[in-house]
Amino acid sequence: MSDELLIIEDDAMLGIDLKRHFERVGWRTRLVRSLGEAGSFVFGPGYEGLVVLSDLHLPDGNSLDLLERARGEGDSREWIFLTGFGEAPDAERAKRLGAFDFLTKPMDRERLERIVTAARRGARAQRRIADEASQQRNRYSPAAFVGRSKDAERVRDTLERLCQIPLSSVIISGETGSGKGLAARILHHSGTRANGPLVEVNCAALPRDLVESELFGHEAGAFTGAKSNHRGFMEQATEGTLFLDEIGELDLDLQAKLLKVLEDKAIRRVGGERMVPVDVHVVVASNRNLRELVAEKAFRADLYHRLSVFQLDLPPLRARKADIDEIVAGLIPEFNAIAGKRVKRVPQAVRALLAAYDWPGNVRELRNVVERSVLLSTGEELPAEWLQIAPDGAPATMTAAGDLIFLPLDGSMNFDTMEKLIVEAALQRDGYNVMAAARRLGLTRETLRYRMARHDLQGQNAPQR
Ligand SMILES: Nc1ncnc2c1ncn2[C@@H]1O[C@H](COP(=O)(O)OP(=O)(O)OP(=O)(O)O)[C@@H](O)[C@H]1O
Ligand SMILES: [Mg+2]
Repeated sequence: MSDELLIIEDDAMLGIDLKRHFERVGWRTRLVRSLGEAGSFVFGPGYEGLVVLSDLHLPDGNSLDLLERARGEGDSREWIFLTGFGEAPDAERAKRLGAFDFLTKPMDRERLERIVTAARRGARAQRRIADEASQQRNRYSPAAFVGRSKDAERVRDTLERLCQIPLSSVIISGETGSGKGLAARILHHSGTRANGPLVEVNCAALPRDLVESELFGHEAGAFTGAKSNHRGFMEQATEGTLFLDEIGELDLDLQAKLLKVLEDKAIRRVGGERMVPVDVHVVVASNRNLRELVAEKAFRADLYHRLSVFQLDLPPLRARKADIDEIVAGLIPEFNAIAGKRVKRVPQAVRALLAAYDWPGNVRELRNVVERSVLLSTGEELPAEWLQIAPDGAPATMTAAGDLIFLPLDGSMNFDTMEKLIVEAALQRDGYNVMAAARRLGLTRETLRYRMARHDLQGQNAPQR
């Protein structure tokens, strides 16, 4: 699709002349003669025009008013004004509203064409940014927090609500891998600040002596090595969201500085004099319980209260195992696509193993397990052999889930023990009814009795039938 130029010009002769000229050089154009008419395109749904070329004074008003309204609604087009009288206040206002150019008639066609072409480049870049923001919005909608347990539903509902309101701060807590980072991204990309930046800072990963200048910035010469002015994360996040991960790792003196910044809504860069206004929303995360840290005096109570405008707790995966199937179902296509695999089914035996495990690393660990299994798969089923989720160093045991049992094939258990465990498990299912257990094992009653005797299994609680 060629790009479209919207021409707003009430002088009929000039309008037609401009329209012809730009069509000749490959633009689609639309010519309107008033602000009212222009508004129906500028605000109309589905109008894709990238650049607006507008006269300033029109019969129904000043076109800068139209631009102002358009900007208010998130318009990202490039606007060029052409005026008979280049008045300074109008030029000033056009600049403030981010107009691409403000030109005085008469205007040489070739020069105008160069300007319009440059505006198109700008508008395309703007549109890419807007598209990117909306893609992120889709990728990080509350629905990205997958799971059908009551807990997951509650988290989604809460995220949905928090995204509607401009909360200045949220604390997210939960074990490692439980989705704190994901929740923070959802809050930003689906929230009221989606068009601003999201700056993610892992407080535990910052070198201790640099934390302050990284967060608050510094002026040239503030310390050895500070060669030029540096905008800190706080300034970079202005009009957007600052995500402070592992906030519990921040030193107490920096906690005090952070609190001051949040209260003053301004920072002073390290080595600087000036207060720089900052407008940030903060989302903080911690896998240590901040309330406990406050009780231990490892976290400042005042900062805690300032931050805890809202608290979102993410339960560990082992407390919401009903989520596992759905999360796995979402991950398989992702890793299929990355590795060119074609896994389509998760066999019941694998589902049972996933459900039997405790997931100390939560969803991150589940992701890794699914990734490994998909990458090493050879067919359409998710293989059980690469799950490797038996706890390290645990004594070799059999695990059971429903009518399935799982035995380690890693050399930690000999065949004799396996046979004993199988026979025992079969017997337990039916309250030591030998006939029923034999049926389960595909053995005759006599063979089963023989094996029970071998493993010393017809004891106390094994009533003879
Ligand atoms: N409910 C969920 N649905 C889908 N994916 C999830 C869910 N929860 C977490 N994930 C994914 O699991 C991985 C780990 O989650 P995340 O990084 O958000 O955890 P975290 O709580 O920030 O962990 P840490 O404390 O180690 O920083 C990410 O890839 C994330 O997208
Ligand atoms: Mg994280």
